[in-house]
Amino acid sequence: MRVPFSARLGWPAPDNELSLLRARRRELGLPILDFSESNPTRVGLREPSRDCGFLLDPANARYEPDPRGLIRAREALVADYAARGRLSPARYGIRLPRAQDVFLCASTSEAYGWLFKLLCDPGESVLVPKPGYPLFDYLAGLEAVEARPYRLEYSHPAGWRIDLDSVESGLSSGGARALVLINPNNPTGSYVGRSEREALLELCERHGCAIIADEVFFDFPVEADEGGALAGEGRSSFIGEERTLCFVLDGLSKRLGMPQMKLGWIVASGPEGELREAKGRLEILADAYLSAGTPIMNALPGLLASSESFAAPCRARLAANLATLRSVLEGPSSPHRVLRCDGGWSAIVESPRLLPEEGLALGLLGEEGLMSQPGYFFDMEREAFFTAGLILDPRTLERGARAYAAYFERLMSP
Ligand SMILES: Cc1ncc(COP(=O)(O)O)c(C=O)c1O
Repeated sequence: MRVPFSARLGWPAPDNELSLLRARRRELGLPILDFSESNPTRVGLREPSRDCGFLLDPANARYEPDPRGLIRAREALVADYAARGRLSPARYGIRLPRAQDVFLCASTSEAYGWLFKLLCDPGESVLVPKPGYPLFDYLAGLEAVEARPYRLEYSHPAGWRIDLDSVESGLSSGGARALVLINPNNPTGSYVGRSEREALLELCERHGCAIIADEVFFDFPVEADEGGALAGEGRSSFIGEERTLCFVLDGLSKRLGMPQMKLGWIVASGPEGELREAKGRLEILADAYLSAGTPIMNALPGLLASSESFAAPCRARLAANLATLRSVLEGPSSPHRVLRCDGGWSAIVESPRLLPEEGLALGLLGEEGLMSQPGYFFDMEREAFFTAGLILDPRTLERGARAYAAYFERLMSP
């Protein structure tokens, strides 16, 4: 008799022509330019020698297990949040997070898993944004939880907004246990606007729904408004929000461009009684894993103190790359447009649907050696869209944009 497997994992994974073509090109030694690059360790933004020194700290030899993570690391995070002023709007008596509200873990992906276990029984649901990064569907599926979409809508040049009716129907008809807000969302780059935030909090309070606010890209505002003000300056964090149970996620992956160091965190807030119970339950869960590593927790205070040495050049690169993308791909007679990008590391390019998106993606890779994630990957409602990684080395991004434009020009020429 065969051993049965859990239905959480679909297997065999369906064949994807794009990944087969990429594998073939690799085997043949043909060049590939990853136009949607999102790995910060591949784009020359960090100095490798500086990053590894902290592993030699003698304090790393001691093991002091604490379900929430080392207290000095949590205190450093709380001080960092206060220093950045990354707080929810004060008018509702927002409280500064305390070290006891912080839970350290290996990554924000793991934090999602913990929170889905905390909030949902198998078969229950959470609401996730569409378009959005597909990771959250997998993470929910792994906890036997259903990820149900709410819509984001785009209008040019104003940008993205949340379809509040789709959130409301998910809460009232489906009884979702958590609303996942990606602030700003990947790849749409849209922050939760202030009026959206009020409406969402009211809905969550009314329906007894927790908020999971993923703020991994929060410190990377990009797009400038007319008049020069950064659109991102109107952004507001969910840190310390007390109207409903709220869990803010962040980590070193994006904040410091160090995904390989594996440190993420949850900052919990909410009405006092519910918050106490949530933290008690989360502590039991975290104690079962104790997953944050001692060396990286010991290094956290120093890393946070020097975080601008990564974040500032990264922000400058994002803005410069977006400008390059616009100058190469937009113009009076250009068939392309770059969607508004308020924040984050990706831009979305809209192009004519001369072929179905998969055909375009195969053509870009086969003819130009350009690998770009198509819009269907993120559940865009229409075609054709592709993403560009704004953290790319600027020369590589420009080369990629020119190859992208050349491919479409060839397709359109009679
Ligand atoms: C919005 C968002 N949150 C979380 C993650 C996962 O980050 P981590 O490396 O901390 O698991 C990603 C990965 O790209 C992401 O795009």
